[in-house]
Amino acid sequence: MSKQEVILCEELESSLAHAIGKCPHDKLFILTDEHTHRLCLPQLQNVSALKEATEIVIGAEDVHKTLETLASVWQALSEQGATRHSLLVNLGGGMVTDLGGFAASTFKRGIAYINIPTTLLAMVDAAVGGKTGINFNGLKNEIGVFAPAASVLLETELLRSLDAHNFFSGYAEMLKHGLISMPQHLNELLAFDTEKIDYAALKAMVGRSVQIKEDIVEEDPQEHGIRKALNLGHTVGHAFESLALAENRPVLHGYAVAWGLVCELYLSYIKVGFPKERMRQTVQFIKENYGGFAINCTQYERLYELMKHDKKNTAGIINFTLLKEVGNICLNQTTDKDTIFEMFDFYRECMGI
Ligand code: GLY
Repeated sequence: MSKQEVILCEELESSLAHAIGKCPHDKLFILTDEHTHRLCLPQLQNVSALKEATEIVIGAEDVHKTLETLASVWQALSEQGATRHSLLVNLGGGMVTDLGGFAASTFKRGIAYINIPTTLLAMVDAAVGGKTGINFNGLKNEIGVFAPAASVLLETELLRSLDAHNFFSGYAEMLKHGLISMPQHLNELLAFDTEKIDYAALKAMVGRSVQIKEDIVEEDPQEHGIRKALNLGHTVGHAFESLALAENRPVLHGYAVAWGLVCELYLSYIKVGFPKERMRQTVQFIKENYGGFAINCTQYERLYELMKHDKKNTAGIINFTLLKEVGNICLNQTTDKDTIFEMFDFYRECMGI
């Protein structure tokens, strides 16, 4: 898998013109969802290369991350004359960059694409690292391929219009990057004033956060080893997310990851000696900024079953990434059911649920 170029933009228009110029193509397409078509595309009106681009617009939000939407993108590419030498620009959140990346990397066995993520979650995680895909058969990201974008352009000015929930959803992935990397980065994340956001400081932190992910992906693009570090918080987080969806009280991905981090830091403390004070400090930040997802003990079995079906497992054994300390990663950890239930007790107790 070739390395993708990730640019922290000084000015999106010139970065995009440059990125398009580096991808020789016969026809240009731009994929947006209903929201980014209305709110973000107009901000690119001065990019002359885009003036000739064919627009493809899909429905917004995760409910549209489907085979039907994917087929509609393939159909638009096919009917509007895309060839193997065409280029697709994906402008949107993780749903658009995941689905658009998958459409591009499968159309005529693969055309080049550029990601312009518009949410914090997509900037620090979804749009970077070459994972593409769609939901299928009720399962998130069930079908997809590893296929890196030619370029990923990060324009943090777009974050000024992000609502608080979507801000915190992306921030959870940044906390994860802090936990798996180094104490200084985690400290700055925990100390950041999320009520009065300093966008220049946020831009610098996004740059550091993405670099942490890029370094890991470069070492292990297809998740055979160290890339599993990026799954911290996700084994339990995905179970919370699926339970919430099944109970018709959906939560944003990053919120589920934040609650998953609380649980998996507890396991890290119990199993491999993660420092208690660090756990307390991180849990406190999550409690204050994310609240808690209400569960009771009758739901532990369901959550356990959901965790057993996670696609990161091998032979039905639940696989965790844990931490001995900040930046000291223990891959492929397992534990018994009683400890998992204790972990849920801890989660409820410290989140006051
Ligand atoms: N979202 C985790 C990864 O890209 O591996």
